[in-house]
Amino acid sequence: MPRTIELPKPDDFHLHLRDGPMLEAVLPYTVERFARALVMPNLVPPVVTTADAIAYRARILEALPPGAPFEPLMTLYLTDTTDLDDLADGHSRGVVIAAKLYPAHATTNAAHGVGDIRRVAAVLERMQRLDMVLCIHGEVTRSEVDIFDREAVFVDEVLIPLRRDFPELRIVLEHITSAHAAAFVEAADARLAATVTPQHLLLDRNAMLVGGIRPHLYCLPVLKARADREALRRLVATGTPKVFLGTDSAPHPRHAKESACGCAGVFSAPLALEAYAQAFDEIGCLGHLTDFAANHGRRFYRLPPNEGTLTLHEEAWEPPELIPVGGDSEGVRPFFAGERVRWRLG
Ligand code: NCD
Ligand code: ZN
Repeated sequence: MPRTIELPKPDDFHLHLRDGPMLEAVLPYTVERFARALVMPNLVPPVVTTADAIAYRARILEALPPGAPFEPLMTLYLTDTTDLDDLADGHSRGVVIAAKLYPAHATTNAAHGVGDIRRVAAVLERMQRLDMVLCIHGEVTRSEVDIFDREAVFVDEVLIPLRRDFPELRIVLEHITSAHAAAFVEAADARLAATVTPQHLLLDRNAMLVGGIRPHLYCLPVLKARADREALRRLVATGTPKVFLGTDSAPHPRHAKESACGCAGVFSAPLALEAYAQAFDEIGCLGHLTDFAANHGRRFYRLPPNEGTLTLHEEAWEPPELIPVGGDSEGVRPFFAGERVRWRLG
């Protein structure tokens, strides 16, 4: 008998939806799988004010398939010039549920990010008082730091002092990828949580680099060594409420990935929940999938449970090779294109 899992409708606490035709093309895949998603603000230009977030939210709702129940949870992109009162206002009105810290130039569309964290001390102080969640892309960007070490160095140089200075601030260390970050999260108190992507639970850097370079597996933070993946797997297998689902699904047009200088981002939305089920099955902790996908994150963000359920069953299927975007003939290539995913929705 193929196994099935029924779970309450889950949430994706780290998602890139983009805008315009890309938003229209990718949104239905998330809506099929998730009741809510924390929408990343790294548009061009970024979502920096409450008014920007309200307008972006309206564009997302406009792009929804008719009648589809879905709640976009909005974030603001912190900059050196974030307006404190606007941030507080957006939070108190329930429009903005978190702010995102990108170290300047850390990743796609992070040029407006924060150069020196000391410059946003007043914002962090205010967020701590408001009990507003800070989401962090945890990588240093100094050129001399090896790309595979950037997360670990961030934990030591930035996050540890940050937590000392703002002990009450609730923080999500986004898309953790390293054994060092996993150990840090495990040891931390309950004000610190982390998301982990399906690709970092399933793969290591060999998948991207052995036998040819696979640009569609390039994301930031970059895939790490097998030992790092094992540490992430062990962390998830503990069932800790400090770790929850955030896909980091990040679509880029195919030519922008298959390029002499390809963009970072894995587009996992069309199979995200299924890929997590596969990972949890490989780890041997499928019993923790429901809490990871539908409970830990919403409790951290203090959101109510979702209505409705989803079913996953064990059946191999192939995601599409390419998802069309607007009139553009080239489209976006999903994670697992040309391969089989072992769990299926429905
Ligand atoms: C993200 C994107 O493309 O917006 N890319 C990625 O590799 N994860 C940005 C990010 O979350 O770092
Ligand atoms: Zn991201």
